[in-house]
Amino acid sequence: MNYRHLYHAGNHADVFKHAILAQLILHLRLKPKPFVVIDTHAGLGRYDLASVEALKTGEAADGIGRALGAAIPAAEPYLAVVRGMNPGGLAVYPGSAAVARALLREDDRLVASELHPDDYLTLRRQFRHDPQVAIHLRDGYETLLAFIPPPERRGLVLIDPPYEERDEPARLGAALVAAMRKWPTGMFAAWYPVKDRTTLAPLFAAVDGAGFEGIVAEFLRHEEDGIRFAGSGLVILNPPWHFETTASAIQSELRDALGAPAQKPVRRLRA
Ligand SMILES: C[S@@+](CC[C@H](N)C(=O)[O-])C[C@H]1O[C@@H](n2cnc3c(N)ncnc32)[C@H](O)[C@@H]1O
Repeated sequence: MNYRHLYHAGNHADVFKHAILAQLILHLRLKPKPFVVIDTHAGLGRYDLASVEALKTGEAADGIGRALGAAIPAAEPYLAVVRGMNPGGLAVYPGSAAVARALLREDDRLVASELHPDDYLTLRRQFRHDPQVAIHLRDGYETLLAFIPPPERRGLVLIDPPYEERDEPARLGAALVAAMRKWPTGMFAAWYPVKDRTTLAPLFAAVDGAGFEGIVAEFLRHEEDGIRFAGSGLVILNPPWHFETTASAIQSELRDALGAPAQKPVRRLRA
């Protein structure tokens, strides 16, 4: 476990992922019934953008640094969370757990797991006195299956693994299939990096053609060359009605804000 998200927090992939996450949670808030958000690979929760690690890559400056000053109406619920955490100017970046927590109502819950012992402790410290949040030192795929279906029967699972291991796309694909079997009406959002697309084949082999209701939304920061980290995507299972429109708006507004290349249209999973 060498991956440390502090180097990458607030980059273009985080901006896209968290803008989508916020819109999915807003959708859950449309009904009064409580819901749960399960964040399987939660990271630190808050990231210090003045840290040596963050400054070393400068990725946040190109991501949230640009997005915050731009017009991205489709990402406004997420940008409002970032602004709320940074009243004196951009200094800390909210990770998925912090974005999700900021958008819960008083009866909603967050369950988050993180396997790196230091990151787990940092995360736990933040939410120690928060009765709506449970933090676990546990493998994210184990967490996924252990907590679904939740008692609320409504909610969203974010699966955001580090892709350190070659078999991560296969593991993720198998986890999504198992999760849909256990909780067919749950909403799932699974993240992947766009570098060499051939490595993603096991993920799409599992979810395309499985009969799931779902969409694939990507944001490319750079033209793809099959080698470098060009962008990222999310497979969203059981998305809200017409969520393609919201995801497309985030994609195109972010493209304009960051000066990114042409994007792949948001697509539905193959039947
Ligand atoms: C991409 S980062 C998560 C970023 C976070 N979800 C966000 O959006 O702010 C992946 C995280 O997963 C953690 N991790 C690695 N293997 C894990 C596992 N098997 N189970 C849970 N967490 C794991 C890493 O320590 C890292 O913090």
